[in-house]
Amino acid sequence: MTPKILQEIVSATKVLQAGGVVAFPTETVYGLGADVSNALAVNRIFEIKGRPPNHPLIVHFSNISNLQHWTQEVPEAAWKLAEHFWPGPLTLILPRGKHILPIVTGGQNMVGLRIPNHPIALALLESLGATGALAAPSANRFGRISPTTAAHVTEELGSAVDMILDGGACKVGLESTIVSFNGKTPTVLRPGGIPLAALADILNENIALSRTEDSAIRVSGTLASHYAPLTPLEICTTKFLPQRVRELKEQGLHVALIGWSTEIYQIFLNMKAIHYCSLPQESVAYGRKLYATLRRFDNEHFDRLLVEAPPNRPAWLAIIDRLQRASHALKINTEIDDHNTKNLKDSK
Ligand code: TXA
Ligand code: MG
Repeated sequence: MTPKILQEIVSATKVLQAGGVVAFPTETVYGLGADVSNALAVNRIFEIKGRPPNHPLIVHFSNISNLQHWTQEVPEAAWKLAEHFWPGPLTLILPRGKHILPIVTGGQNMVGLRIPNHPIALALLESLGATGALAAPSANRFGRISPTTAAHVTEELGSAVDMILDGGACKVGLESTIVSFNGKTPTVLRPGGIPLAALADILNENIALSRTEDSAIRVSGTLASHYAPLTPLEICTTKFLPQRVRELKEQGLHVALIGWSTEIYQIFLNMKAIHYCSLPQESVAYGRKLYATLRRFDNEHFDRLLVEAPPNRPAWLAIIDRLQRASHALKINTEIDDHNTKNLKDSK
């Protein structure tokens, strides 16, 4: 880290200790942090984001030996995941410890905990002391796309935040995988930076994706329409895409196409006057670029974002999840099939 960023971390610590709100980089997306022990500061997060007060925040801390400080109980399986994946893109939902204010969890008796894997985030958290922590959601307005660069945060929240630490583009680019220990067996509430198969490997048993829309727990990332650009977004299978582009153009709509397959790239080359962006064929690289691409196209004021359906593979689960939520208002031909997945670099 440069002397400049070290100096900024010192300033950010003072801002946080005085009850301020600081946006900071993590490996997943940028977070909007407030001192977890300061109810007024935490309340400002809800105000800035326009987030309903019953939507819980994740508590970020830096040292695994403090896990028990934040929770009442750590099941053996949770320890295994924490020891293997932290620091990293994993959030564990565990019984709320007495040091966590009710406002942080939206009144729930479970708390989301995570140790992020980013040098700036870790240095900032360490500077808050042994039992310091930050309550931090993604640094975007409620329901919108999470920011993956400091410029996105400025664009989205601007002067509403006291300080923004710039750590460059986020390496993962999608939010953390959330694993809940609320029930008898651990369940995944939100697919994310860690694939389900990697969790199952460590737990030595399969782990299910929970149908949280049916559950009583408020998980904002599981609301039907979330992670959404302002421009209507439509997912379309590779096979149906050329026809769909023609239909939309016939309606006089200004369309931007986001594809990944060689097949669609070839079709684009033969089609005139269409805005096109090719995303990587490998899921990790695709995930890293997705939000920035949606945001860029959103700023260019198209009538429609047309996204080529991603491959129906486990490694693409988090991407499929986010795209489906972003496209909720427009469910035209969103069925995801195995078409054209044979040339993929992903083995899973
Ligand atoms: O990667 C991430 O998780 C990023 C970075 C900044 O750490 N954070 C993030 O926070 O995505 P947020 O608030 O945008 O999304 C966290 C999700 C929300 O859907 C929230 O409802 C859920 O985690 N969550 C937090 N605490 C919970 C709890 N106690 N029970 C159930 N869900 C919880
Ligand atoms: Mg969020």
